Amino acid sequence: MKVGILTGGGDCPGLNAVIRGVVQVISNAGGQCLGLQEGWRGAITGNHEILTPEMTRPIIDQGGTILGSSRTNPFKNPEEIEQIEQTFKNLGMDALVAIGGDDTLGVASKLYHEKGLPTIGCPKTIDNDLSATDQTFGFDTCINIVMDAVDRLRTTAMSHRRVLVVEVMGRHAGWIACYSAMATGADYFMVPEREVNIDEMINVLQKRLDAGQKYGIVVVSEGAKLSNDGDFVTKDAEIDEFGHVKLGGIGDRVAKIIEERMGKETRSVTLGHLQRGGSPSAFDRVLGTRLGVHAGHLALNKDFGKMVALRGTKIVAVELKDAVDKMRELEDSFFDEAAEFLK
Ligand code: F6P
Repeated sequence: MKVGILTGGGDCPGLNAVIRGVVQVISNAGGQCLGLQEGWRGAITGNHEILTPEMTRPIIDQGGTILGSSRTNPFKNPEEIEQIEQTFKNLGMDALVAIGGDDTLGVASKLYHEKGLPTIGCPKTIDNDLSATDQTFGFDTCINIVMDAVDRLRTTAMSHRRVLVVEVMGRHAGWIACYSAMATGADYFMVPEREVNIDEMINVLQKRLDAGQKYGIVVVSEGAKLSNDGDFVTKDAEIDEFGHVKLGGIGDRVAKIIEERMGKETRSVTLGHLQRGGSPSAFDRVLGTRLGVHAGHLALNKDFGKMVALRGTKIVAVELKDAVDKMRELEDSFFDEAAEFLK
């Protein structure tokens, strides 16, 4: 059996663990894996390399993806879909494991349902916003990076008696902001799912100052909006092939508001791609490996149109279609637990 593997969308720690898992299972069964280069672009061009267990054994600790990634959307151009069909034939691929977020998996789902191609999905994103899985790999590494950064920022905020606003990723979902705020004991956090309440934030910060705390830490999701009917704060007007704008800048805006309203020196730090880089945590290495192993077994069993997912502590297979239908926003119960500390 020949199994293609590709990684699409934003990179994420743990991708290489998944690749290694798929390669090991397929190789154990006497098959071969082909690594398509740079996401769906590789499926279009057929650009690939043969992946062996010897090659993939040492990559467990490497961040990013050895296959490269892109935000290529083949459904923007019907010719590219035909080229993907041709790649399956040319390379003799019996299955394709697509590792990615909702965009990449959306393409895998459409290829299966509309073109009958044997695709399997594996959920990935540091944002942790995919439904049908309890957690995505990459998220754990990400929140540990944010935690380390905020711990460091706290010592300098304390020294200078400043407020520090930390902008974190999370385009549509506030998982990163919520978890890292809780993990660091931040004074306030803002997420895309909830209307930003500037008065409440100022009150909380003021209360802390009145109680003798000389600094403040605010964590804000890049996707939070400053008013209910407002727009995202963006870097520029450019959009990618899936129609996403480049977010960034809300941290600066919030810092300015705090400084103006409180008369306290306030700085902002955008953690940006630091949150996606570097070596995966043990949790993400294990989760990625387990997902890869199960994706390999789905391929061997010709169980296509499915996505591997974490449910509780077990890896299960779910319908790819259901997995990409709905985004997993920050659930109220998680927000409420963290919000106990915003008082
Ligand atoms: O989808 C994950 C993510 O990291 C988002 O949180 C962020 O908005 C986006 O990717 C950034 O993507 P890029 O690296 O393409 O700018």
